[in-house]
This record gives sequence, C-alpha cells and structure tokens, in this order.
Amino acid sequence: MAQLWGGRFTKQTDKLAYAFNASISFDQRLLTQDIAGSCAHAKMLAAQGILTPHERDAILQGLKEILADTQSGKLKITEQYEDVHSFVEANLIERIGDIGKKLHTGRSRNDQVALDMKLYVREEIGNIDEELKELLQILLEKMKEHIDTIMPGFTHLQKAQPTTLAHHLGAYFEMFRRDRSRLADVKARLNLCPLGSGALAGTTYPLDRASTAKQLGFHGPTRNSMDSVSDRDYVIELLSALSIIMMHLSRFSEEIILWNSNEYRFVEIDDAYSTGSSIMPQKKNPDIAELVRGKTGRVYGALMSMLTTMKGIPLAYDKDMQEDKELTFDAIDTVKGCVRLFGGMLRTMKFCKPRMEESAKHGFTNATDAADYLVNHGVPFRDAHGIVGQLVLYGISHGKALDDLTLEEYHQFSPVFEKDVYDAISLKTCVEKRNTIGAPGHRAMEVEIAEAEEYLIRN
Ligand code: ARG
Repeated sequence: MAQLWGGRFTKQTDKLAYAFNASISFDQRLLTQDIAGSCAHAKMLAAQGILTPHERDAILQGLKEILADTQSGKLKITEQYEDVHSFVEANLIERIGDIGKKLHTGRSRNDQVALDMKLYVREEIGNIDEELKELLQILLEKMKEHIDTIMPGFTHLQKAQPTTLAHHLGAYFEMFRRDRSRLADVKARLNLCPLGSGALAGTTYPLDRASTAKQLGFHGPTRNSMDSVSDRDYVIELLSALSIIMMHLSRFSEEIILWNSNEYRFVEIDDAYSTGSSIMPQKKNPDIAELVRGKTGRVYGALMSMLTTMKGIPLAYDKDMQEDKELTFDAIDTVKGCVRLFGGMLRTMKFCKPRMEESAKHGFTNATDAADYLVNHGVPFRDAHGIVGQLVLYGISHGKALDDLTLEEYHQFSPVFEKDVYDAISLKTCVEKRNTIGAPGHRAMEVEIAEAEEYLIRN
C-alpha cells in the first residue's frame, strides 16, 4: 500500500477498508489528464519562483516518462496505489528522488481530481459530439433518399396523416442536433479551472491560477475554492444530456423494432445488425435496437445515482464524490457505443417503400384531406368532419379505402364531392400540399434538407 498520508497514522489501514477506499481500479483512466494537470502546475510553480527551473525540468521529464512507460506497458498501474494521483506521485519520486516531493506544493488531491474529471469530461464531450455528427450525416443521407417515400404518420400509434420517411427521420435529425447543442452548453459552462483551489480554502503560495487555467485550455480559473472542489454540476449536466440522447435513441429503437416486426414490415434490419434464435430457425431479431433501448436504463440510473449522491453532501470535498467516476465512465462508454451501433444499423437498414405507401393508403390517413376538400367547397369544417367520419365508417365496413369508393358512394354522404376528389385525396397530393415550414411536402423538405446540410458543414 503506497499512501500519501501515512505521517499522522500509527496503524495500517484495515485491508478491506483500504480496498473499499481505493479508486485506482477505475480512476487510472484519468492518467493523461492527471499528468497534464501536473505539468501545468509544475510550470506555473517555477514561473512563480516556487520551483527552480532545474526542479521544474526534472519533474516534467519524470512525468513525461511515466506517461510513456504506462502507455507502452513498461510501467503497470497496480492496486498497490490508492488512486491515480498517488500512482503518479509515488512513481515520480521513485524516478527523480526528492525533487518529486515538491510537485504537490500548493495542491490537494481535491482540486487535482476536480481538474482531472473536468478535463476528461471536456474531451469526451468532443468524442460523443463526433459520434452524433456521424449519426446526423447518416440521417441526412436517408432523408435525401426518401424525400418522396410516403408512409403513414401516427398519433397514439394509430395511423393519422400521410407523411414521408424523410419527414419522419427529420424529426430525429432535430433531436440529435439539440443533443449536440446541449453538450456544447455543458462544455462551455464547465470550462473554468479548479486547479489552485487546494483542499478547499486556496493556498498561501503565490499561485498563478490564471496561468494554469490558460495552459489547460480553460476560459479562466473558478471563482470560489470551496465550490471548485465540491462542484460536480457538470457531471450531472453531462449525465442529463446523455440521458436525453439515450431517450432519443430509445424512441427511435422502439420504432425500428415495430417497423421491423412481421406486422409492419416497413424495414428490414441488415443481417449484420440482427441475431437469430437458438431454437426458432425463422427468427431474425432486432437485438441491437433492443439493447440500445435497454441500455437507456443504466444511463438514467447514472444520472439518478449522481443526483442522489450529491444531495446530502456538506461543503466542501467529501469522499462520496469519488462515486462520480464509475458512473460517468460507464455512461460515456454506453452512449458512444450505442450512437455508433445505431448509426451502423440505420445505414445498412432496408426501407420497404411499397409497404410503407400501402400502409398509408389503408389507414384512412387522407381523411383530413377529404374533409379539407369539402371545406374548400364551402362546407363548414365541423360538418365536413362529420361527413368524412361517416365515409370512413362506410369504408371500414366495406373493406375499402377512401380512394377506392365510387363517386356514387361519395354522393350518398354529400353531393359536394366531384371527380376531382380522387386527386385531392391521393396520398401524393396529401403530402405535396403540405408545404408550410417544417411540413413533409417536397418543397418544404427540400428547404429543411438544404439547411441540415449547411448546418453539418458549419458544425
Ligand atoms: N480518489 C479521490 C476521488 O476520486 C481523489 C480525491 C481524494 N481526496 C481526499 N481528500 N481523500 O474523489
């Protein structure tokens, strides 16, 4: 057991207690961030005359070697160290001797871990953003391809009005676009540097906090040293943003599972993204979509855990906060994996155009348009609604779509109907006429697609 704090103690820590307390098994992920923070700190200490240039160079060299040796596998991170910070410091001292003991001047593991975690989250936000951008590219491709693919739009999972696949996918485009902007907000708000806050009350050394903040790419230093070491808002904000991403992916997954079912057959998931059954030879299951939907639970779980962990903690640092790491790492890995797999599944998925169109035709999705036809011929909307309602009832009992009723049949319900009703209620017309901003009409969608394209170039 290599501890940084043995001086005050007369007894060894209980073995189980030591293991319970240690975080090295998971916080070793923060090695690069920890070393980056230490380098910035050492440079600043030297600039402030707290270290000599020689001491600074020895420390920087030692830190560089620790990173290289760990990455090459020459140096192993073992359970012998309590956490990643102890690992780095102990190794530094082993390498460069007593000079290494000066690195921790004016610093505490409390501000160190706060810094490491911020650096890690900031970097991962960039990675998740890239994955989301890739997914948006795939969505945009599909939207372009399916600008004229008619399908039923649903409310209450009941066929409602005809729309297009491009329009439906465009809804998800907007969701993931918002997700990216949410992540950007989290990043902007977290970007103040806690280093130099010490354990909680700053330090007596003349640290230049602005310099370390600048070196590490922050807007500036945090403004209150107690808040600096006890703030995990950015973790909670990140987990909220990740939960929303998963909620979007889960809704999309649910739709794909439905669409891929024997009843819908709107899509066929590629073999590469499906699995079979060990007993039923005919089965091709949408496991990937199901797993994405399922994993939403654990990301929500991370958010709830973190909110709960933080709710009763008095200022400033308490060990409870160490719990942020496993949750956050797992949520980040889960989201990155899910976005990527989902994208692959979407890219390779076959959309069955004829099935979608057929389905739109048979759900009376053009009933609103039939009513609008009457309104355009002077019938008040409420009466038109009633007339078309009766027509639908008639169609259901005779097994006919509105498009298939004869003009005589139409006349049984209203004399206003003329031959041009067929054109007015054809699915193509129904969609085509909807060209208000954000609607599925070809013209309106073209505008949205062009905007989406430009957005992806700019962002
Ligand atoms: N492993 C700790 C964490 O993740 C590092 C900070 C330890 N600080 C302390 N005062 N024990 O939070």
